[in-house]
Amino acid sequence: MLHAANATLDKAYNPYSHFAVASAILTIEGKTFTGVNVENAAYSPGNCAERTAIFSAIANGHQEFRAIAIIARPDKGITKKVTAPCGLCRQVIFEFSQVSGIDIEVIMATTDMKKIIISTINELLPLGFGPADLGK
Ligand code: THU
Repeated sequence: MLHAANATLDKAYNPYSHFAVASAILTIEGKTFTGVNVENAAYSPGNCAERTAIFSAIANGHQEFRAIAIIARPDKGITKKVTAPCGLCRQVIFEFSQVSGIDIEVIMATTDMKKIIISTINELLPLGFGPADLGK
């Protein structure tokens, strides 16, 4: 999954941060969807790589996921720590972990993949608010 994400890093649209992020999400059927960060001159309309990957999977009819991988590459150099999903992306991952009942694995790497941390969404977003809170 990290290699699938890594292969799409060049597609990131990141003229403002110069920080390319790519993500790959694995469905329970074993399909992988990738996504990159997409920035915007007005800043807030931008989208993170993780949500791009998840929304692509959803748009293609998949809502149940096992794992999501994240990797980033600054224009200059490499990341020294793994790139972890932002709060918004954790919330979106949490949504679909409750939809499927699967504690989705979150695989985070440095650009060179020398450091890899594997966690789960429940570890990264404890006591998260989700569909269950609305009786879903
Ligand atoms: N970004 C992601 O795509 N995913 C993350 O996990 C962290 C941040 C993007 C958002 C923005 O385009 C750039 O990285 C700098 O914050």
